[in-house]
Amino acid sequence: MGLAVAGWRRTNRTTVEKSLPRGDREAVVVAVAAQKGGVGKTTTTVSLAAAFARYHGLKVLVVDLDPQNHVHLALREQVEVGGGALSEILTDPSCTLEVEEIRASTSVPELFVTAPDPDLLHAEDGMAHRIGKEMVLRRALEVTRTHYDIILLDCPPNMGTLTINGLVAADTVLVPAQASMLAVSGIDGLFRTLDEVGAQLNPKLGLLGVVLTRVDGRTTTSNRDVKDLVQASWGDVVLPVEIGADDKLAQAQMAGQDVFGFAPTSRAAQHYRELAAELLERLR
Ligand SMILES: Nc1ncnc2c1ncn2[C@@H]1O[C@H](COP(=O)(O)OP(=O)(O)OP(=O)(O)O)[C@@H](O)[C@H]1O
Ligand SMILES: [Mg+2]
Repeated sequence: MGLAVAGWRRTNRTTVEKSLPRGDREAVVVAVAAQKGGVGKTTTTVSLAAAFARYHGLKVLVVDLDPQNHVHLALREQVEVGGGALSEILTDPSCTLEVEEIRASTSVPELFVTAPDPDLLHAEDGMAHRIGKEMVLRRALEVTRTHYDIILLDCPPNMGTLTINGLVAADTVLVPAQASMLAVSGIDGLFRTLDEVGAQLNPKLGLLGVVLTRVDGRTTTSNRDVKDLVQASWGDVVLPVEIGADDKLAQAQMAGQDVFGFAPTSRAAQHYRELAAELLERLR
């Protein structure tokens, strides 16, 4: 009986054969996550990715884990043809594709993104009964990460299976928080999730920092109150570079371009350039 079981194991165990050759890089994987909606996750993901590629010569991949497909919407005039469905990788246990095999290129050299995927909306249901469902993205980035310097994961505004996949695949997390009491209050919940993911699934997960977004220079008193609260609660995890409120970001998204292509001299472009430089310092 014992031998039979051992024999069954030997003949039936499958090792996942990947056809994608390994590259010679080793990307750092950054999940951009927050429990709150509308705090600037996608804007930050897309703007940082563009800054890393445009100004630092890094090869960058953006993985859009949000069924809203906002990454594509924000860059749609720059995304070139190509790319497949991320949902297939996430939901189909027999799919051995790497994310690299389904990504699209963009008109910004060295910037790559996953294609818009309407089926991502049903991916969490499709993953519900997968064994090891939290690890799927991590596995699908194993070889992909050897082709990039930085991989940014744009997470949906909840702590569902897609976000957990992002946190398990990531080396570190960047948390955008809008500079208002309401938005800031959601961070505690996220930190609890990060602790749990760190304890159960990804012990090496780090915290890159909290970046305040949409900071409005005109309401300095209330901004100062929020910043004091943030500093008191989380101390030096709050990054020194803040992103000011700037309509150019929404306009760039409406035009389907990154902010550096659309309005390179804007305040938002300047702030995201500074944030990119600050983060690279911290990642080194
Ligand atoms: N610094 C900013 N100044 C002005 N508007 C901004 C700024 N950052 C983001 N926005 C705008 O706020 C809206 C929400 O931003 P964004 O989509 O990046 O948030 P999100 O956290 O990804 O949202 P969701 O939770 O829906 O995914 C967008 O219309 C965007 O253009
Ligand atoms: Mg978003």
